[in-house]
Amino acid sequence: MKIAILGSGGREHALVATISKSSNLNEIFCVPGNAGTSKIATNVEIDLNEFDKVYKFINDHSIDLVVVGPEQPLVNGIVDYLEKFNVKVFGPNKIASQLEGSKIFTKKLCQEYNIPTANFGIFENKVDAKNFLDNAKYPNVIKADNLAAGKGVYICNNKQESFMAVDEIFNGKFGEAKNVLIEEFLKGEEMSYFIISDGATIKSFETAQDHKRVLEGDNGKNTGGMGAYSPSRLINDDLEDKILSKIIKPTLKGLTDMGTEYKGFLYAGLMIVEDEPYLIEYNVRMGDPECQTILPKLKTDLAEILEACCNKQLADINIEWTNKKSLCVVLCSKGYPDTFQKNVLINNLDNFTLDENNFIFHAGTKTENNKIYATGGRVLNFISLSDDFLKARDEVHQCIKKLDWNGGFYRRDIGFKVID
Ligand code: AMP
Ligand code: GLY
Repeated sequence: MKIAILGSGGREHALVATISKSSNLNEIFCVPGNAGTSKIATNVEIDLNEFDKVYKFINDHSIDLVVVGPEQPLVNGIVDYLEKFNVKVFGPNKIASQLEGSKIFTKKLCQEYNIPTANFGIFENKVDAKNFLDNAKYPNVIKADNLAAGKGVYICNNKQESFMAVDEIFNGKFGEAKNVLIEEFLKGEEMSYFIISDGATIKSFETAQDHKRVLEGDNGKNTGGMGAYSPSRLINDDLEDKILSKIIKPTLKGLTDMGTEYKGFLYAGLMIVEDEPYLIEYNVRMGDPECQTILPKLKTDLAEILEACCNKQLADINIEWTNKKSLCVVLCSKGYPDTFQKNVLINNLDNFTLDENNFIFHAGTKTENNKIYATGGRVLNFISLSDDFLKARDEVHQCIKKLDWNGGFYRRDIGFKVID
């Protein structure tokens, strides 16, 4: 089989590395990829917004299966576009991708299908939003409706903060804003729950816990994710039954009632409040760094699973996982999530020897003249599998210390809730 993975982050390097182990693979491409994917796949420099160029490449190279990593092309309808040409694509279509692309689409679906989520209001302008906020309860949560790379969410402790959030959103900080969403603040513990779906059958695809804040102790600004561990400490059979019956299945029924279906990974960001799951958000893809954390635990051939999904045969596949704990630490450029230096040389990445329980997945890196440079905010992911989270984290830290790069930083407390 010839497979192309679309995207360039740590998630995509993990997908490429895992699919590379498939017994039925002839050639693998990553569009556009990074320095890490270039070692194990052929990188192809195409802008993922240019669907016609993506299709031309797929057609010219007779690609059998396309796997879409990031949300933007999904929300823009790349699956619908490629399927018109009979390309096999793993990922949800444009309508289903609104689960991530529009928070208001998801909230309305929750309302219609009684899916537990924070109480909310939708406001179309600053005046109405501020009138409501004048007498609202605090803390509350204010969100831009559009895709904002995890940054369009404000937790507001008082009126002043909430007015500033409303101003920033309507002034276009996250692109043109037609609405804001004001939500009740849910106090509980977060958990990410993943499924994979072929449109008819769904299977669990593990749980994880991300660390979104930039500083230790969950302080500082929000980021794309500074590290994760899997499984979540919260998951048990009873909770999983509730997540499936109260959240995932009604959502998929909602899509069926709209005349569509869900094919791909679905990531439910949940708040668990006194053993009850509430939906915070959906993402229509694997998480990053959750993907890098979860995939090393997979024992079943990933290419087989993804192909089965495109053929509506997921029911025939038994997905198996190792029982080990997985922990991932993200190494970032100093300054992230604000400004940081780009094109900084990382010296000795090629000299790493990793055993079967240790993994390095690249994110913002590029190769030039056989040298590797840091180009992004999140640069490298270090993952270790072990019998317990503390050992996994110690292994990761040992590995990071061998790296000759003083332009980076990382959170040393990833997994603090599961490590004493
Ligand atoms: P989102 O982009 O919707 O996932 O929000 C980003 C982060 O904000 C989440 O991971 C939560 O930590 C927090 N958050 C969002 N909505 C709520 C809520 N209603 N109550 C408490 N925390 C929230
Ligand atoms: N790690 C959070 C996300 O992928 O959205």
